[in-house]
Amino acid sequence: MAKPRIAIIGAGSSGLTALKQCLADDLDPICFEQTSCVGGLWNFVEVNDENKDPNPSTYKSLIINTSKEMMTFSDFPLPPEWPTYLHNSLVAKYFNMYADHFKLWPYIKFRTTVVNVSYLPDHRWKVKYITCEDKDQTEDNPKNEHEEIFDYVIVCNGHHRKHRWPKYKGMDKFKGEQTHSHFYRRAAPFENKRVVVVGVGNSGLDIAVELSHVASQVYLCVRRGTLPWIMPRLIDGKAIDQLRSRFSDTFLPKSSTSVITKRIVQIVGPHPPSLQPTTPLFTHHPTVKSDFFERLSTGTIIVTKNILELMSDETKSIKFVDGSIVENIDAVIYATGYHIDFPFLDREIINGGPEIEQEFEDEYKENLTWMYKMIFPPNYRNIAFIGLFQPIGAIFPITELQSRYVTSLIKGLINPLPSPQDMNIAIRNYHKKNRNQYYLSARHTMELDYYEYLDKISQELGCYPYSLEILKKFGFNMWKLVMFGVRTPIQYRLIGRQSWEGAKDAIMAYNKINPIQH
Ligand SMILES: Cc1cc2nc3c(=O)[nH]c(=O)nc-3n(C[C@H](O)[C@H](O)[C@H](O)COP(=O)(O)OP(=O)(O)OC[C@H]3O[C@@H](n4cnc5c(N)ncnc54)[C@H](O)[C@@H]3O)c2cc1C
Ligand SMILES: NC(=O)c1ccc[n+]([C@@H]2O[C@H](COP(=O)([O-])OP(=O)(O)OC[C@H]3O[C@@H](n4cnc5c(N)ncnc54)[C@H](OP(=O)(O)O)[C@@H]3O)[C@@H](O)[C@H]2O)c1
Repeated sequence: MAKPRIAIIGAGSSGLTALKQCLADDLDPICFEQTSCVGGLWNFVEVNDENKDPNPSTYKSLIINTSKEMMTFSDFPLPPEWPTYLHNSLVAKYFNMYADHFKLWPYIKFRTTVVNVSYLPDHRWKVKYITCEDKDQTEDNPKNEHEEIFDYVIVCNGHHRKHRWPKYKGMDKFKGEQTHSHFYRRAAPFENKRVVVVGVGNSGLDIAVELSHVASQVYLCVRRGTLPWIMPRLIDGKAIDQLRSRFSDTFLPKSSTSVITKRIVQIVGPHPPSLQPTTPLFTHHPTVKSDFFERLSTGTIIVTKNILELMSDETKSIKFVDGSIVENIDAVIYATGYHIDFPFLDREIINGGPEIEQEFEDEYKENLTWMYKMIFPPNYRNIAFIGLFQPIGAIFPITELQSRYVTSLIKGLINPLPSPQDMNIAIRNYHKKNRNQYYLSARHTMELDYYEYLDKISQELGCYPYSLEILKKFGFNMWKLVMFGVRTPIQYRLIGRQSWEGAKDAIMAYNKINPIQH
């Protein structure tokens, strides 16, 4: 029987791991990538006249917020000697090393943009794409458009591409510069300028802190009137995403979480009294910035309320909702996040359609996704979305297990998906829980807990590190590391299908790392 043909859209980290998994499971994949490199948004690209709106939003100084021990792919560990928190250039390098190691290059069609994906009556998918290769250009086909039919589509095009702009009165006539964090590359152009940064997610804080070293004044605008919870990368000398162990999650009573939470608050706080977060910890996507409060204490950053109006006159003034006004603003940087965008696919496949949309508030609706296990749209059996979620933790190991799940499903090695009705119930429950935990915001429509999700999927795949099995196969020392040590995703390669013989040593090496002594 012919191998199923799989189209993978995008060769960022999600597309790479999906491709690697398809090959490991002896499927027939092609990966379409619109740029000429792998690694997606981790490739630093200048914004200039030739490239006015590049795919990545990566600025020169960007350092990842998730520790390498937790973000590594499970069977190709990030080198233990690399720093715990990687600069964007090292993250991009790792994805190139991954493509080398698993020999992925021949399966990637570079400079090829998928422009349409449509469902055929015979339940396969037609993928229409445009390639920049001159050799493919003919008189009959000057635009280089092509079509191919696939048995399965895996969508990995990322969701941090289409910049989301706020709407303020006077934006169209304001005489200062206005831009989005997506286009921000470095602080130099803002030297000695007066800058307003809007938004207090990770982009807003990274940019405000960086600018505070060179700008004459930075105003940081918070639409909720107060700061969010702002965490440092290290707590008590440990990477913040390594505080939880499998033991504490499994056996400690829920009340211990509040003790740990209080300790975190003691360490990260106190926030200035007038800027105390008004919502409890863990009700918004984490904002991580170690030196923010120090910069705030220097006065180089001043926190303001939301913008009411941008003035059109020569004073380049901005009025805030509390009536205060700042003058001579040279630039406004909107760090206001992203729209989920699938220009090549019917929107109903993403958000479940207008009836489902109606169940949600406008702001939530804007970025609504309707996917079973955050992967499968319930009405289609042969399309999967990898990386379409916002993890509390690193995205990469999750996309890797999602890919293992998808290919196991295609191969018939795990239980088939439930009925669309049952999937709809599960998705509705997810959104109910999500809406209860996070405050209403377009950026909170697909939050996902790293540990909980990985453990659930790995149980279904048969690669969860069950205590007894670990004890039997590897002995007490490895059991101890699995229960109390760094909860690295390499643990999902210790047992089950596709276990990896290097896993044990890699886990031991990762448990010897001190984040400030690498
Ligand atoms: C500034 C910033 C910092 C971040 N920091 C972290 C972090 O600390 N930790 C973390 O876990 N996550 C972080 N993220 C989340 C980030 O989304 C993931 O790290 C990860 O890069 C997502 O990978 P991806 O492959 O899903 O998407 P992308 O990296 O966006 O890759 C998508 C790929 O698809 C290609 N593509 C898109 N459309 C088409 C098309 N039509 N045809 C062909 N190819 C197409 C693109 O060219 C691109 O190569 C950050 C995001 C941003 C914006
Ligand atoms: N160093 C790093 O690793 C790093 C750096 C940058 C980004 N990232 C990641 O990249 C992703 C995107 O982050 P992001 O910071 O660009 O976007 P984001 O997380 O969506 O944050 C957007 C911010 O803008 C605010 N906002 C949205 N709409 C607004 C409006 N109309 N008016 C005023 N404020 C508005 C939001 O406030 P509300 O909360 O009120 O919605 C929020 O504070 C996240 O996953 C993030 O973790 C990581």
